[in-house]
Amino acid sequence: MQIRRCTTIDELREATSPIVHYFGRDKPDDEWVERWLRFFELERMHAAVEDDGAIVGGAGALSLRMTVPGGVQVPTAGVTAVGVLPTHRRRGILRSMMRAQIDDVRERGEPLAALWASEETIYGRYGYGLASLNVQFDVDKAFGAFRPGVETVGRVRLVDFDTAAQQLPPVYDTLQRSTPGMYERSEAWWRNRQLVDPENFRFGGSPKHIAVLEVDGEPQAYAIYRLHVSFGDLGPETKLRTIEVVATTPEATASIWRYLLDVDWTKTVSAGLQPVDHPLFLLLARPNFSKPTLSDGLWVRLVDVGAALSARSYAGDGAIVLDVRDDFCPWNEARWRLAGGEATTTEDEADLVLDVADLASVYLGGFTFRDLRRAGRVEELTDGAVYLADATFRTEGVPWCPEIF
Ligand SMILES: CC(C)(COP(=O)(O)OP(=O)(O)OC[C@H]1O[C@@H](n2cnc3c(N)ncnc32)[C@H](O)[C@@H]1OP(=O)(O)O)[C@@H](O)C(=O)NCCC(=O)NCCS
Repeated sequence: MQIRRCTTIDELREATSPIVHYFGRDKPDDEWVERWLRFFELERMHAAVEDDGAIVGGAGALSLRMTVPGGVQVPTAGVTAVGVLPTHRRRGILRSMMRAQIDDVRERGEPLAALWASEETIYGRYGYGLASLNVQFDVDKAFGAFRPGVETVGRVRLVDFDTAAQQLPPVYDTLQRSTPGMYERSEAWWRNRQLVDPENFRFGGSPKHIAVLEVDGEPQAYAIYRLHVSFGDLGPETKLRTIEVVATTPEATASIWRYLLDVDWTKTVSAGLQPVDHPLFLLLARPNFSKPTLSDGLWVRLVDVGAALSARSYAGDGAIVLDVRDDFCPWNEARWRLAGGEATTTEDEADLVLDVADLASVYLGGFTFRDLRRAGRVEELTDGAVYLADATFRTEGVPWCPEIF
């Protein structure tokens, strides 16, 4: 079994076929491959190739620039389209692909890799740590009222893809620049991911609707959603399912959610991939009836611990020495002294010992060192080091990634 980069479109089609298989679909068609190549570089797809040339596995990486605490955008490998055919599972193919991919990411000088895991058990062994959480709301329309005194602003319009291509990116960019876990989107990304709507990706829903909230003529929020229409014995029971909702101000947040919660004929508003500190908890009169469900969000890998730690900003500059364990990427195994926002290797005694995957869990601010300690994931060698590390790594708000890539 050889792991190598794809060099032709047909190889890309074959290497993405294993993951597509699990979505219950045929091999990707020309239209899909063509669209994919508008935001994905062919050579970033690794294929697992048998002696006879058959491709039985694939693992890809998108070239992202992800926001880290402090509002810096860091080159990040967005790991995607990972799959091994069921005929070849559990023979070490994923491990070999992860090896080839991470070595490639390191050579490219990307300090971080990030992914969405289909199952939480898969990627920890390669040094990925759970770095953000998401909440899904399933708001029962009958309990969709806000607390008294919430004011809404502006007006909402439904727009087509061309108008959306003008109006949505600035709203997204405003939030993305300051939200760890979000990443820059190119025009090609918008045009070939958010603002397309192939019928076989609707999963029983309506075409995409795009609502834009304008305040004084300026777009301040948007919602992309589908209606999953159904009728019960007593009338319409449609579910409004959001794909992405983004707002730049508290008033715009309240207004776009008021719009979504008030669409007629709906029984439920189902909104996945929301941040765990979502204002809806404090906006709704009966937040319990939004039935929040927690799940894992981004998994992050510090491919270059020194560069990754030095890239983000810190709330304090108290020096701290982290002894980082990293079986899969031994170049990271060292004592790292973090002082004045810079991480360098050191011979100093360590204050904390932890695995690189656990360091990834605190990196974006999704968890704290205290959380790690309570789960037995960090060893404190110097009294007070957990407290000091938390004071240093403290971030405003939690990381959020609104899109599965
Ligand atoms: C997940 C998947 C890629 C694993 O591929 P694979 O070639 O069977 O994995 P490997 O044989 O290299 O296994 C590597 C290790 O991961 C473990 N592992 C792999 N998949 C696992 C899973 N779904 N749950 C738990 N452990 C898993 C193996 O037991 C093995 O453990 P070890 O190294 O401790 O012995 C493959 O099962 C698959 O394509 N699944 C469906 C699609 C999918 O979920 N893709 C991931 C999208 S994020």
